[in-house]
Amino acid sequence: MIFTVAIDGPAAAGKGTIARAVAAEFGFAHLDTGLLYRAVGAKGGDPVAAAKLTPEDLARGDLRSLAAGEAASRVAAIPEVRAALTRFQQDFARQEGGAVLDGRDIGTVICPEAEVKLFVTASAQVRAHRRWLEVGGDEAEVLAQVIERDRRDSERGVAPMVAAPDALLLDTSELSIPQAIEMAVEAIRQRIGQGRA
Ligand code: C5P
Repeated sequence: MIFTVAIDGPAAAGKGTIARAVAAEFGFAHLDTGLLYRAVGAKGGDPVAAAKLTPEDLARGDLRSLAAGEAASRVAAIPEVRAALTRFQQDFARQEGGAVLDGRDIGTVICPEAEVKLFVTASAQVRAHRRWLEVGGDEAEVLAQVIERDRRDSERGVAPMVAAPDALLLDTSELSIPQAIEMAVEAIRQRIGQGRA
């Protein structure tokens, strides 16, 4: 079965948590596409050359840091970097057995034919608070970084972060993690049911 779940949205909205839960529930393969951009940014040097990723690049221990997130959002605005990472993501999305990918442009650019598209969001304050609980430091500074990264990701010329017109919007500001997961799982069950009808 070819079945793709595209989960897009800003940093710390809960995409990764929902994507992992969906993958476990349905036995789908999962790709956190942010890690690809983080790996390119963390390598440094010429970003286009750095976009030829190796398994070692993806195994670095520092990819989850705030600095790697910042570097990722800079290299992610370069069209040649995005182009170099596209084919891998598209093949992953359409593999046999089902796949869930989380990122910024999965439902709009990488896999517009995805069977289910979710746009997971939350207020900047809520997302900054979640990030701050993970990384510590000055919460106001984390909020400023979240806002700046949202701006860069949504205003870039190539593959900006935007909800696909046919995406289901999930605002997790006021939802618990189990509630958000349940809504995502239900949307996927319904779509799988339609395919069988
Ligand atoms: O999701 P994560 O915080 O790991 O993403 C890091 C950065 O990588 C994002 O801020 C964004 O600029 C970029 N990104 C992207 N397209 C994706 C995934 C991530 O541009 N599909």
